[in-house]
Amino acid sequence: MTDSSETPPQTLRALIQHAAEQLLAVQGAEDLDEARLEVELLYGRAADLDRVHVIAAGGHPADPATREAFQQLLIRRLAHEPLAYILGQREFYGLMFQVGPGALIPRPETETLVEAAIEAIREHPRHQRLVRVADIGTGSGAIAISVARHAPAAKMFAVDQSTEALEWAGNNRKRLGPIDRVILLTGDMLEPLTEPLDIVLANLPYVPTEEYEALPDEIRAHEPELAVDGGDDGLDLYRRFAAQLPAHLVDDAYAILIEIGAGQAPFAEDILLEALGHPQNATVTAHRDLRGIRRIIEVRVGY
Ligand SMILES: C[S@@+](CC[C@H](N)C(=O)[O-])C[C@H]1O[C@@H](n2cnc3c(N)ncnc32)[C@H](O)[C@@H]1O
Repeated sequence: MTDSSETPPQTLRALIQHAAEQLLAVQGAEDLDEARLEVELLYGRAADLDRVHVIAAGGHPADPATREAFQQLLIRRLAHEPLAYILGQREFYGLMFQVGPGALIPRPETETLVEAAIEAIREHPRHQRLVRVADIGTGSGAIAISVARHAPAAKMFAVDQSTEALEWAGNNRKRLGPIDRVILLTGDMLEPLTEPLDIVLANLPYVPTEEYEALPDEIRAHEPELAVDGGDDGLDLYRRFAAQLPAHLVDDAYAILIEIGAGQAPFAEDILLEALGHPQNATVTAHRDLRGIRRIIEVRVGY
């Protein structure tokens, strides 16, 4: 006699439903729909099919070899490995970036930084010629590459302290380009930069250490601590970043755009303005992300 709970699901749809319920229980996916979406993507990876074809095949049984490959991927996901690392990619600003251990997975809120940066470049007095832009803490290169592809006037200098992260950025630049307008540099913040800069972008770690320690395993055990932990109040790195800024900026017209966490806006604004010497002609804008959080602080001076 067989126990019916041990009977393998018969169709792909049933297999996916069963796996989604497991994922929801173990992983704390937000809801069953999200868990099902993740499982469909994992199955798609195992079967080399896109998600639409996985759904379309739902009425058929899964073939044994694909099912076995899928189970291996599912086990990794159930053990809290981020979906993007298992799939080896994450979509950001309409582009598919390769990611893996050593590079932070680009987050949707960072698209707000890209949008504001493209606008700041378009409106910069030098935009008919060349706007020199730095992306500090480039990670996978998501910001630098997305901005360069959408702002033909931008010459991007993408810096990271982690050589492992820069390898991912290099892969992405090779696949997505533009190779000639994204220059990768290793080092501490702005230190490796020698050209004067018109615009500086940064998504440096900003999670306060206490909050970092309470983050789910999925982040702490897999994504680099160097990419997330921002020290006591989360703003340690931005303080050091701000102190380096004046030596690297042009005199006449420049902009700084940084990504921050919820509640950090007034502090981040003070840090930047103080480091820049409270310029008379500065305008400060806080851009909200899709959840309404003031996520990007932009300081423009001279334009
Ligand atoms: C929050 S991640 C951002 C990654 C990427 N820009 C993105 O938005 O997805 C922060 C990045 O800053 C880098 N980083 C941390 N400290 C740094 C430093 N002192 N100088 C340069 N990069 C640093 C980390 O290695 C990591 O890649």
